[in-house]
Amino acid sequence: MTNADIHLPQRRFGETSRRDRWWLQPLVVFTVLTSFIIYATWAAFQGVNYFSHAGGAHYLSPFYSPLLFGQEGEPRWFAAEVPSWWPGWAPFSPAMLILGGPVMMRLTCYYYRGAYYKAFWADPIACSVGEPRKGYRGENSFPLIMQNIHRYVFYPAAAFVLILLFDGVRAFFFETPEGTRFGVGLGSVVLLTNAVLLGGYTFGCHCARHQIGGYLNSLAKRPIRSKCYACVSSLNNRHMRWAWVSLFWVAWSDIYVRLLASGVISDPRIIF
Ligand code: FES
Repeated sequence: MTNADIHLPQRRFGETSRRDRWWLQPLVVFTVLTSFIIYATWAAFQGVNYFSHAGGAHYLSPFYSPLLFGQEGEPRWFAAEVPSWWPGWAPFSPAMLILGGPVMMRLTCYYYRGAYYKAFWADPIACSVGEPRKGYRGENSFPLIMQNIHRYVFYPAAAFVLILLFDGVRAFFFETPEGTRFGVGLGSVVLLTNAVLLGGYTFGCHCARHQIGGYLNSLAKRPIRSKCYACVSSLNNRHMRWAWVSLFWVAWSDIYVRLLASGVISDPRIIF
């Protein structure tokens, strides 16, 4: 058998013979992620209007949950507005203490990596389109080797989902002069939906799938684990959709609570 070396021409950046709109997807990803990052950073630094108690409601923005420190009357975990070790010269917002967890989950997510590598540094920008660099180092060296922490980030992210689920359920209970009573406001639906969507995204994680049963050779004699694996696999099949919908909804949840807390809108009560 004879072997022949075939040398493919190196394309210039952006050069391609493709005629479809290959640039559209990376452009949309770039625009949406950039908008989200700008909004989330702005919201996290506000340190106000993250909790609405109007009309006896109990709506906490997911960007601030769990609320470790906060004002009196808010669902804070510790009885202080600011941690004692926080430097006096630095501005403080409760979101700063917790947002690292969800950010790391998204940043190191296998799906998002593929999306933002294309959209933010064109590596590669699309199939069969020239790249801006000739070498390829993959994720085997610093800094991208750090992406491997994703398998550990999954656990705190799962804990966040449970906390947000508690917030979502708590949002169905309102304070009245007679005591706490069940009700449904639009905010209740918004916050519970947020927890469900984030759960769909988090528990469809590739790492979750591996931990649930992916590392086993056979699930045949493990009926419960087999069902859990099928459930996680089903979420995993649509991981990209869960990723985007949950991203939109978590931002919308913060916007909704923020508008309520600042008195711009009032919360329609569906059942009360
Ligand atoms: S792979 Fe996307 S969250 Fe784990």
